Amino acid sequence: MSKYPLHIHDTAEALHHACAQRFAELATQAIAARGQFHVALSGGTTPRSLYQRLATPQFASRIDWRRVHVWFGDERTVPPDHPDSNYRMARESLLDHVPIPPAQVHRIEAEKEGGADDYEALLNEYIAASETAVPQFDLVLLGLGPDGHIASLFPDTAILRERDRLVAAVWVAKLNTWRISLTLPVIDNARHVLLLVAGTGKAEIVREIFTDAPRAVPYPVQMLAPAGALEWHLDAAAAQYLSREGAP
Ligand code: 6PG
Repeated sequence: MSKYPLHIHDTAEALHHACAQRFAELATQAIAARGQFHVALSGGTTPRSLYQRLATPQFASRIDWRRVHVWFGDERTVPPDHPDSNYRMARESLLDHVPIPPAQVHRIEAEKEGGADDYEALLNEYIAASETAVPQFDLVLLGLGPDGHIASLFPDTAILRERDRLVAAVWVAKLNTWRISLTLPVIDNARHVLLLVAGTGKAEIVREIFTDAPRAVPYPVQMLAPAGALEWHLDAAAAQYLSREGAP
């Protein structure tokens, strides 16, 4: 994983500011090049502050939201107004505060039967494919779980072996719940992947990923092999076991 750029920021605020800057840059580049920006948002708690920052005039004014399509990297099997919903978190922190056309916010209807198939059909309908015939996101935002999971690609789950589907439902035994998630083939096909990792609770998994010898069974995050660019953005707390240059 160390071959990818590792950006260590002094504070979580600096991390979120830097990632908001990258989001705005990548949106501007995509819109200039192709007239649209397709971004898959991460769920969980880390990106909330990033989304709130993107909704501030400093950043929101830099993005032509009429040309943005917002997608989701994964979703919990709950209604869209449930406290655990990734869509609800993004709506409250960002989507309700920027002029993005509602038809360009593509929620994963994880509470419905067939939600994964329906989402995969939307991806194929709206997002142009690369030469691999896989829809190519301009940006996929990811968080990192303490067990090395990304999106809802948890260790020891069948979805990690999925090479054909773009979206799949996954039973996460440790959470005793179903999730719906993008699969590695579509995440790896993105032009850019930004990994946001903050807090001392992630320091151990970060240490293992960047300092330990390769594992017989890699963590899901170590299975990432983006065709495009992968950027790690950590705050000092998450990177406390690494040197400032990111080396062990
Ligand atoms: C989710 C996310 C998940 C998240 C990590 C980190 O639906 O929860 O997609 O992959 O990014 O679990 O979560 P935190 O940001 O809450 O630590």
